Amino acid sequence: MDKLLIAGGRPLEGEVRVSGAKNAALPLMCAALLTPESLVLENVPRLVDVRTMARLLSGMGVEVERAEDGGWRLRAARIARPEAPYELVKTMRASVLVLGPLLARCGHARVSLPGGCAIGARPVDQHLKGLEALGARIEIEHGYMNARAERLVGARIEMDLVTVTGTENLMMAAALAEGTTVLENAAREPEVAELAACLNAMGARIEGAGGDTIRIEGVRSLSGARWRIMPDRIETGTYLVAAAAAGGRVRVAGAAPATLEATLAKLREAGARLAVGDEAIEIEMDRRPAAVDVRTAPYPGFPTDMQAQFMALDALADGTGVITETIFENRFMHAPELQRLGADITVQGNTAVVRGVPRLQGAAVMATDLRASASLVIAGLAAEGETLVDRIYHLDRGYEALEAKLAALGARVRRVSSRP
Ligand code: EPZ
Repeated sequence: MDKLLIAGGRPLEGEVRVSGAKNAALPLMCAALLTPESLVLENVPRLVDVRTMARLLSGMGVEVERAEDGGWRLRAARIARPEAPYELVKTMRASVLVLGPLLARCGHARVSLPGGCAIGARPVDQHLKGLEALGARIEIEHGYMNARAERLVGARIEMDLVTVTGTENLMMAAALAEGTTVLENAAREPEVAELAACLNAMGARIEGAGGDTIRIEGVRSLSGARWRIMPDRIETGTYLVAAAAAGGRVRVAGAAPATLEATLAKLREAGARLAVGDEAIEIEMDRRPAAVDVRTAPYPGFPTDMQAQFMALDALADGTGVITETIFENRFMHAPELQRLGADITVQGNTAVVRGVPRLQGAAVMATDLRASASLVIAGLAAEGETLVDRIYHLDRGYEALEAKLAALGARVRRVSSRP
């Protein structure tokens, strides 16, 4: 199992370019199921999760290949096996995003229940409730969702809670349903709007995506398209927080600043100086950060995917920060690992009180989930001495070429394999 060895205590200097958004790429790959024609995706991030999704789709009979320019060409001319097996779904919950498109295109699907994951139970009840409202019949048998629908018929669906992939699943199913679907209390994340824009480029008729009410006029069929994936707003935020924690001056290029306003506001509150352009953000931090309070919320609120990174920043900040996680029930597993680096954190339910210490000390720590591992890397970059982060396969799921990008900023980071 690979580990990341970090020699901390040096500021970061230079430029890093952001990759395509993981949480846009995954639903966009599933959108290929909705048409027999080719969907060409550009700016696809080189991530384990993307490769897992490619394996899942090709197992159904979808032609999946890397296009000449590093993008991906997907073609679901025919779907031989509308199935998502447990061995793949258990490694990536986003696999549930094939359910809506398979039902819309094939009229039946057999998809493993995703099961829980480190950060919470993460049920899919809203996905199922919405698909049943569109006319699907879904039985849960032996850990699988067996779904059937001769045809999907548009409906008004009031979602009980804001769910990103739930909104995406229903939007894709409704795109080929008969008549009009209205999704109320829809997720407003930029990745939802990106998926709707690509579906519209394929011939769908979707309005209001990015807001909390989305209207979908079903069409009979969709065509192929070519689509360039938006920059990853969480990767962008992660590098900015790394620079705020380690100090220095970093330019994050190829970004979409308008998609991470809440994160930028918190960085300014922490004392960072930011220069924000159309496609780049420059951060300068030449002092100890001030502690900030963070409360996660659905977009455009502060993103839960940036919570762990800000806990690392608060850990070494001047003052005390209160972090409240309102989206997931167990997303503080980075706290005990940060404590091994000397952080002073008290967790009570969904609130963590972080009392900043002047310096963190390097130590051996263990990653538990994608954003928790990013938090440990950030803390390691700022800590005195060496930090060894174990189980960094979590990182490889969501951060393309992390050590190369950090090394280009002057960080002393090395991947060590503990393979015998
Ligand atoms: C998406 O997950 C992202 N993943 C997550 O990013 C992100 O943390 C999350 O949205 C919140 O922003 C992708 O887009 C692939 P939710 P998703 O459904 O859609 C509960 C990362 O680090 N819920 O919006 O699975 C759920 O348990 C990942 O890149 C139900 O109760 O999240 C959670 O508490 C981690 N029933 C809350 O809603 C449902 O049917 C929000 O979940 C669906 C969700």
